[in-house]
Amino acid sequence: MQTQLFIDGTWRAGATGETFAVTDPATGDHIADVAAGTPDDATAACAAAGVAQRSWAAVAPREKAEILRRGFELMVEHTDELADLIVREQGKPMADARGEIAYAAEFFRWNSEEAVRIRGSIGTAPSGSNQIIVRHPPVGVVVIVTPWNFPAAMITRKVAPALAAGNAVVIKPPVETPLTALRLAELLAEAGVPAGVVNVVPTTDAQGWFDAAVDHTATRMVSFTGSTATGRKLLARSADRVLKTTMELGGNAPFIVFDDADVDAAVAGAMTAKMRHSAETCTAANRFFVQAGVAEEFATKFAAAMGAVKIGSGFDDGVECGPLIHEAAVDKVAGLVDAAVAAGAVIEVGGGRVDGPGSFFQPTVLSNVAAGSPITQEEIFGPVAPLITFTDTDEMIEQANDTEQGLIGYVYTRDLAKGLRVSERIEAGMIGLNRGAVSDPAAPFGGMKQSGLGREGASEGIYEFCETQYIGVDYSA
Ligand code: SIN
Repeated sequence: MQTQLFIDGTWRAGATGETFAVTDPATGDHIADVAAGTPDDATAACAAAGVAQRSWAAVAPREKAEILRRGFELMVEHTDELADLIVREQGKPMADARGEIAYAAEFFRWNSEEAVRIRGSIGTAPSGSNQIIVRHPPVGVVVIVTPWNFPAAMITRKVAPALAAGNAVVIKPPVETPLTALRLAELLAEAGVPAGVVNVVPTTDAQGWFDAAVDHTATRMVSFTGSTATGRKLLARSADRVLKTTMELGGNAPFIVFDDADVDAAVAGAMTAKMRHSAETCTAANRFFVQAGVAEEFATKFAAAMGAVKIGSGFDDGVECGPLIHEAAVDKVAGLVDAAVAAGAVIEVGGGRVDGPGSFFQPTVLSNVAAGSPITQEEIFGPVAPLITFTDTDEMIEQANDTEQGLIGYVYTRDLAKGLRVSERIEAGMIGLNRGAVSDPAAPFGGMKQSGLGREGASEGIYEFCETQYIGVDYSA
């Protein structure tokens, strides 16, 4: 297992030689000691990336594509090992971990296909005096900061398009889950990514690390996935050097069930939207708006499904919900539930912590929740589903849009035209219409309002990692 920093194609200790411990959230057991990178290490990684990026940009698109394709194949070949690492350091159930590896690897396959299709354009200027050529060179060095909920996919969703476009990257993985990131770097080197193009520098000094990376002259872009609060700070700091940014930030997804929905399908969708990856996703359904005619049936069936979820170590057979990442996460979820109950919410199922070891919370359904109450205003990031009954569609849409976190919404109805009309009125970057999951490397992932800037995946994703250059040319003579 690699536990050192990966800079310029070599494994090394951090400048101070210090390490930090990685633990298993299901047991609290110590897993590994990982080198703690310093600001000087971040600087060294940016310098190496700056040099390597120039040669990488010059590599033929087809060759880049084949290296990325090999990255996809290696990830798939190493699914067992990578999934094992994710369960160990992140805690999610094995089926989710394997699903994450398939999803994460797919970003390399998709972007290997996009690498040879970065399009520019040529057109005649309106005056007729010259031609306008538009091309898309790479940005340069991209600093990538990722969260712990998807130790592989949140990295590959950025690294694959960045490399396909000809950039080099310096990655700060989270302290909770650095091991998957380090193993991915090793696999990418094996796939043929040249030294210095991918650098991974874990750290416990996030602020010092980021300051050093942003201040390096080679750095031209910051790509972050995480909370809106942190994103706001990184945006402000990136502004000091007017860096390009993409930000995938928090969510507060409404999950809307109309009277005419197939209730069983809506319950199945709700389970996916709420519970995939132990409910620790920014796409998780956070508020359930259920129309009065099906409110009781939905609540009963959903509570039964949530009550049947097996919680435990992600390594155990049949487990569908692992631990939350740490005790602080359990404290936050418990606080939200207690406050909601004090304000009149009714616990349909669950409602409490689970005795340790490990940081578990029971899958919980709360009914009689008031729209606008604190639990509907915060990203829960845990297995708790607040139900709000509605009668009037216009009023419900206003409540659904009463958030700055416009990442995603879910709509269930048998009336497709109504579903599309409602989807268009939801202020979110993504909508699942009769679907409980929408993440797909071929689709543009991202949010509106304070949920983020830019899109990842799809054809748009690669252009986020490109500049636009226009050449006005007169070749008439
Ligand atoms: C996230 O939670 O940041 C990503 C979720 C997803 O891709 O589905």
